[in-house]
Amino acid sequence: MKNYTCHFSMLVAIMLLIISCSSPEDITPDPVNDDREYIPLKELFKDHFPIGAAVTPNHMDSRTPHGRTLIEHFNSLVAENVMKPDALQRVKGTYTWTNADRIVQFAKENDMKVRGHTLTWHSQTPDWFFYDENGDLHTPEVAMKQLEEHITTVVSRYKGDVYAWDVVNEAMFDWDPNGQIIYREDSPWYKIMGPAYIDSAFVYARRADPDAKLFYNDYNSIFSWKRNKIYDLVKRLKDNNIPIDGVGLQGHWNVGVSEQDIRTTLDLFRDLGVEIQITELDLSVYLSSDEPGSEVYTDAFNLRQKIAYPMIMKILLDYSDIITGVTFWGIGDDVTWLDRPGRRHFPFLLDEQLKPKPAYLEVQKLIRR
Ligand code: GLA
Repeated sequence: MKNYTCHFSMLVAIMLLIISCSSPEDITPDPVNDDREYIPLKELFKDHFPIGAAVTPNHMDSRTPHGRTLIEHFNSLVAENVMKPDALQRVKGTYTWTNADRIVQFAKENDMKVRGHTLTWHSQTPDWFFYDENGDLHTPEVAMKQLEEHITTVVSRYKGDVYAWDVVNEAMFDWDPNGQIIYREDSPWYKIMGPAYIDSAFVYARRADPDAKLFYNDYNSIFSWKRNKIYDLVKRLKDNNIPIDGVGLQGHWNVGVSEQDIRTTLDLFRDLGVEIQITELDLSVYLSSDEPGSEVYTDAFNLRQKIAYPMIMKILLDYSDIITGVTFWGIGDDVTWLDRPGRRHFPFLLDEQLKPKPAYLEVQKLIRR
């Protein structure tokens, strides 16, 4: 798992402040999971932005609980894995479309949008993209040609079906408070040709589908050390007429996430004139990685999410003029990439039974008073 760096003491202080500012009568008492009380997420936010979920092909069946939940609550899908380079072109020149097609088909049948994730990444990308048969890095010419071929083939296939692509994922170096290291230099893409691959990827994607929205997507993007690098990158791309439409803030956050960090980030990117999407939202119940793990959803977790989730969604509503999509990185608390034995994260608005959690009804109050 990535190191989602947290300043523990700062987060605890923020959390205490949030809790002390919320009067108990603001918070709906539990139990609140009366099915008749909730409005499906996509209805709730219909005047603001589409609500998406990351899915696997197995979810694409309306007879299953996950399929039904997707149809009820979501109007946008993203493939959790099956549109990544290793899924689509594991072997050079041999494309495997079945799984990705299933997601696109289900979305069409149920009137949902599809985000494409992801075209260019250092991870989940087969070695042949980077290395020759001797294990040496390709020349920039060879690597670029292969990237162009991949992007052109994939984007062309889903032209008109996928409305937005994460063209480049996680190209910036994550932790560097002094701002000396800009790019993720251990990425084979970077090793082969420096940052030029980023520019080219956007150009190839635009050529293949001039109507698709093109995004740069990254994590930890609300923290100053990273958001400034992303800002500089996007500014450079725009100044050089490289076609980029938006920035994806992944949104792998926890319940201590700072309101100010999110607002400052949105203000910064607003100045660039790009759209913003929250692309991989999941809100861990822990304040830090030091906090002991739990297998059960405790009252404390419940309270934390009842405060943090509406705080986040209120910000997103406040910025809905630039936010064009909010996608959760999963559906309900039964499955999340974050969970480990003894440490479950319960990061969504829907619980393990795919029912609205108390935090959900707090979010609902933002719109339905
Ligand atoms: C990153 C990637 C996603 C996914 C998550 C973890 O955020 O962009 O594709 O791999 O990590 O599941």
